[in-house]
Amino acid sequence: MNNRTILVTSALPYANGPIHIGHLVEYIQTDIWARFQKMCGHDCIYICADDAHGTPIMLRAQQEGITPEELISRVKLEHEKDFADFLIEFDNYHSTHSEENKKHATTIYQRLKDNGHITTKTVIDLFDPKENVFLPDRFVKGECPKCHAKDQYGDNCEVCGSTYTPADLINPYSSVSGATPIQKENLHYFFKLNDFKDVLEKWINQDNLQPEITNKLKEWFDSGLQDWDISRDAPYFGFEIPDAPGKYFYVWLDAPIGYMASLQQYIDSSTNTGGKDFNYYWNSDSIAEVYHFIGKDIAYFHMLFWPAMLHGADYRIPTAVYCHGFLTVDGKKMSKSRGTFIKARTYLEHLHPEYLRYYFAAKLGPGVSDIDLNLEDFQQRVNSDVVGKLVNIASRCAGFITKKFDAKLTASFNDECTHAFDLAVEKNNQIKMYYESRKYSEAMRVIMSVADIANQIIDAHKPWEKIKEDSNRTEVHQVCSFGLNMFRLLIGYLKPVLPELAAKSEVFLNTEFTWEKLYNGNPLPEGHEINKFKPLITRIEKESIDKMIEDSKQDAAPVASDPISDEITFDDFAKLDFRVAKIIKAEHVEGADKLLQLTLDLGESTGGVQKNVFAGIKSAYAPEDIEGRLTVVVANLAPRKMRFGMSEGMVLAAGPGDKDIFLLQPDSGAKPGMRVK
Ligand code: MSP
Ligand code: ZN
Repeated sequence: MNNRTILVTSALPYANGPIHIGHLVEYIQTDIWARFQKMCGHDCIYICADDAHGTPIMLRAQQEGITPEELISRVKLEHEKDFADFLIEFDNYHSTHSEENKKHATTIYQRLKDNGHITTKTVIDLFDPKENVFLPDRFVKGECPKCHAKDQYGDNCEVCGSTYTPADLINPYSSVSGATPIQKENLHYFFKLNDFKDVLEKWINQDNLQPEITNKLKEWFDSGLQDWDISRDAPYFGFEIPDAPGKYFYVWLDAPIGYMASLQQYIDSSTNTGGKDFNYYWNSDSIAEVYHFIGKDIAYFHMLFWPAMLHGADYRIPTAVYCHGFLTVDGKKMSKSRGTFIKARTYLEHLHPEYLRYYFAAKLGPGVSDIDLNLEDFQQRVNSDVVGKLVNIASRCAGFITKKFDAKLTASFNDECTHAFDLAVEKNNQIKMYYESRKYSEAMRVIMSVADIANQIIDAHKPWEKIKEDSNRTEVHQVCSFGLNMFRLLIGYLKPVLPELAAKSEVFLNTEFTWEKLYNGNPLPEGHEINKFKPLITRIEKESIDKMIEDSKQDAAPVASDPISDEITFDDFAKLDFRVAKIIKAEHVEGADKLLQLTLDLGESTGGVQKNVFAGIKSAYAPEDIEGRLTVVVANLAPRKMRFGMSEGMVLAAGPGDKDIFLLQPDSGAKPGMRVK
């Protein structure tokens, strides 16, 4: 076999938020591709990392009252768990806030500088006169200079996708103080993109890039390759630029270098890389293949800046960058209020990850058009293809083989079965080509058409009826062996998409699925013994989808603002007299839904004071349950007239309400009248 060395990456997710199903389009797409390459026996490494730098992360940490380091290490764990549970199998997952990345970012910057590709310019920056700081791009909002969309961030427009500097914004305002920023001179560092005009021209004209993207690149190219501003002023969470105190690398400078950093960590921690070191992958004359999978929104960074930076620093440029489109749910942009902004974690609480992996595979093509998760279609498609067509083959055939034929398969098929089996094997080249060229939907279509043929043959022979007659034994043995062999080929084809199902099937069929072994033209040998069939996957219930949407709405529900009240002094606090009280009587209140009327005994030490108190605890307690029990009361509260009578104190309880209101004191050792401190 022709062995390739392949390095694959997905874009590095920002470390300030959770992974959602939109992200998963990309990670699932890439994971399928990487798993496919590995299954074919190639030396393929799939790496990724968290993108940990930049203003939004700094802001987020501030909001949470923690350091950026604390934030990014927590989020990294969450991301890694989400990915693992979606069966995304990275060979390494790192962070851009790492020693490796600092080292490589510094090297690249230094080389670019030595090669004359860095320049400085004094630019007019926006400055917040109230807060006395230069305003990072994300702190300035205003109108896009190109398409005039309102309230766009200072670095790029989310509507038309153009990038610019905050000073280009029309009617800018500081999102920190709301003040109109003033203009102030500031020194910035720039990467001279135009030095790479020729290299980039050649790069965007190579034929393994997507035509839609090439066209977009040409547009950008034609509007001129501007110097790229790569410095930001403190305060900034990132790497300080060598020899430029107070200036930091803009997050997008060191973000793609994170691909290198993650590979570096992988190499450093691997015991055997087959002699392939960092330079094997990145040297200018490397024969390894390097592929970046990204969303179309970040094409500019990956297809202009990144190759130029690499070339300028004497590294190789990527073999290709593959862009995908954006996820919509039921035809619309993911929406928090509709409950379609679904976090990876929320999905996993209700549904199996392989459902989504299959559905995305069935939808993904090589282009950049958006892909839609139609929830009804999702349920129907997965149930009919994966459960109905595929797993059904195994579940219909396995029992007979185990019970009637000592769990042993036969390899002699009749002509019809042989023909169908050969056809299924033959498809392997086509399916392989579809995976390689990211035409997953085509691959799924072919696989399911083969499954249809298998099911038709099984249906025609009806082993469940034939088994009743002893004279049909051979036929049943043949058909069921054929069925399981077809199942083996089919699940083999789907192994990159459904890795867990495939692993279970490998155990069940007692054989390993590699491309070579599966599609060499032979069925499992005569007498091959299988293991007991266990259910592989269940159908998607509508209820699970509904619950997931409901939970996603909850996730998004804004937390009602309830700030802490004005500070009180200790003296204020000391005025409150908390006492243990015994509930000597508890009664329903005529006409009140929430209240119980309590008679409280405050104990001998108070001179035997009794108080009448109305408490809103009816949802959690029946009168007979609390009579005789202890609670805590604010004993010196002035009496207050309520609709049902005078309330002479306040009982203390906490809880979300309904059945959960915690009112009672443990009885042990407490006596009515005791002060509570
Ligand atoms: N941190 C940058 C990438 C740096 S790569 C050196 C970034 N992060 S991101 O978290 O916003 O996005 C990560 C990837 O997920 C991007 O490729 C992005 O296009 C993709 N997606 C994010 N939301 C998406 C959808 N709703 N649909 C499809 N892909 C989406 O960009
Ligand atoms: Zn715009």
